[in-house]
Amino acid sequence: MTQGRTIAVANMKGGVGKTTTVVMLADAFAARGSRVLVIDLDAQANVSFCLAGNDLLSVLIREDRTIGAYLEDTLVNRRRRALSSFVRGGVSDTTRGGTLLDISLIASDPSLRLIERELIVALTEKGYGLNAIEGQIFRRIEKELPALQAAYDIVLFDCAPGVSPLNEAAIRSVDLVIVPTIPDSLSTLGLSAFCRSIWHGTLAAGSSLPRPKRLPRVLATRRQRIRQHQEKLDAMEIDSSRRNPPYRLLKTIIPQANTTLGSICSEKVGATYLGKYGAANSVLLEELTAEIMKELNSQPEMMLHADAS
Ligand SMILES: Nc1ncnc2c1ncn2[C@@H]1O[C@H](COP(=O)(O)OP(=O)(O)OP(=O)(O)O)[C@@H](O)[C@H]1O
Ligand SMILES: [Mg+2]
Repeated sequence: MTQGRTIAVANMKGGVGKTTTVVMLADAFAARGSRVLVIDLDAQANVSFCLAGNDLLSVLIREDRTIGAYLEDTLVNRRRRALSSFVRGGVSDTTRGGTLLDISLIASDPSLRLIERELIVALTEKGYGLNAIEGQIFRRIEKELPALQAAYDIVLFDCAPGVSPLNEAAIRSVDLVIVPTIPDSLSTLGLSAFCRSIWHGTLAAGSSLPRPKRLPRVLATRRQRIRQHQEKLDAMEIDSSRRNPPYRLLKTIIPQANTTLGSICSEKVGATYLGKYGAANSVLLEELTAEIMKELNSQPEMMLHADAS
């Protein structure tokens, strides 16, 4: 039996399309016949809302079936509970060929923000420093992944904006990190800072965590046919093809919606996959999933320590 692939969708910058990318990839991989698990690491719980809808999400929160409850149980209260027992299967109501897409979810909720704080306070009181705390979260996630990879073909993490210990752990545990980026001045400014801080900067050097397995893959999103976007895309292409690049740029580009992509997260409505994305986006998502599979099958790069900025 082949082992499932793990992907984190992350960017320090907010509002660049991380959650939309996770939903698109979950739907597109499931439409290809993969068993998909989405893990929500963001206290905003956007992807949980998007996939499960308000009613089911309320039930999951009431039953303490969230990533926050898992962290509190295992790291604060030291109870032994497998992350897999927090999974809710069959959350999608999107169909393909008359069958519901096979998407499962580990939900999040706003209390995650407080639990992350509580965790840091509890571990600090026990004498752990920030590096040790990050290490504890990383080792816990790393330990849980094999069981999830046995049950799912694709495991997708939706990271919160910013650089939290939870994001750090996910980024360093997975097979591939995808960094959605709008090709404009502010987003590309954030991109360099993000890549530097994790892959080449002082944070990477000072952390006890291993470097990510591969260079991050930047996914250009919300692309408009304007000069500024083309110039930024060209600049990212140049950055990406340097000898010691901070990231690699994916060939597939997600356009600015086109109402369908802008609204896939706004409400949960039963729909067919084709109805949800339309023909053009379906082709685009097929290209994107094929490109990501190729990247996942590629040899992980040697991580060079030199600053590539
Ligand atoms: N390709 C697109 N075209 C048009 N609108 C889009 C596109 N992708 C995302 N959006 C919209 O942009 C907004 C931000 O997207 P999204 O929530 O996916 O970003 P995010 O990076 O996850 O944000 P956060 O950092 O808050 O988690 C949303 O309103 C979403 O509908
Ligand atoms: Mg988001």
